[in-house]
Amino acid sequence: MTYEMIVTRTEGPDSRQVAIVTLNRPKQLNALNDQLMDELGRALKAFAADDSVGCIVLTGSEKAFAAGADIGAMANYSFADVYNNDFITRNWEQIRSIRKPVIAAVSGFALGGGCELAMMCDFIIAADNAKFGQPEIKLGIIPGAGGTQRLPRAVGKAKAMDMALTGRMMDAAEAERVGLVSRVVPLDKLMDEAMGAALTICSYGQPSLMAAKEAVNRAFEGGLSDGVMFERRLFHALFATQDQKEGMEAFVNKRKPAFKHR
Ligand code: CAA
Repeated sequence: MTYEMIVTRTEGPDSRQVAIVTLNRPKQLNALNDQLMDELGRALKAFAADDSVGCIVLTGSEKAFAAGADIGAMANYSFADVYNNDFITRNWEQIRSIRKPVIAAVSGFALGGGCELAMMCDFIIAADNAKFGQPEIKLGIIPGAGGTQRLPRAVGKAKAMDMALTGRMMDAAEAERVGLVSRVVPLDKLMDEAMGAALTICSYGQPSLMAAKEAVNRAFEGGLSDGVMFERRLFHALFATQDQKEGMEAFVNKRKPAFKHR
């Protein structure tokens, strides 16, 4: 398969390989548009169906895992656009259906949809330059890919509210302290560490890996679907507000937004 916005490769012994998927829109800090998410979904599904692949590592560039959903692409969307086209849901949710382990190897910015994408993976290994955040509030919207549901489950209400309401970033040390990431390593060791974990995982039996993943997710996701759907509808509804138009237009034109609170 050929891709334009991601790069894929496999590593490891022939019988049990690690698939590495690299988000590849470096100039846009890996902003997640529909094409990239379609390609990511296709690649993940293909690796999930490939018996020689035991584990998947998802990564970005040194500067950005992903700086969020593509703001320019969605700036002019209407409520009808996002609701009718099942925006975010159609392609983004595919990662949740992958039964093999998926590790996020995060360096640089993991913001908005980028943080949410990392949290959709089974666990996160971070480089010491990683920065996590849910800055959607600055754009007149809220997280729309599960952030208001997965972040509180991962780090508790206080930190999640702080992140969602102030839009501030959390560095790698804080992210490890509060349990958002499982390990922090120096930037130049990130892929070694992720590959080491992935190869270890590959050394175990597939059914037990899938069962372990399913079981941990059952603990993690109780009641999650309703929460995500509730969030999604609010996310869609905010595209009917003036503040969404103002917030995104201001970002695109590199000026400060003047919110009307309407
Ligand atoms: N969408 C589209 N383009 C983006 C982007 C995004 N989310 N983030 C960065 N870019 C683009 C910038 O527009 C810029 O493009 P140009 O060179 O053409 O001007 C390029 O990437 C480099 O970015 P900066 O010049 O801004 O780099 P910086 O180092 O000064 O700042 C940053 C980095 C703090 C991450 C800043 O780019 C930023 O704040 N980005 C937006 C983060 C954000 O708001 N994310 C949430 C998006 S909404 C969302 O994700 C909804 C959801 O829940 C699904």
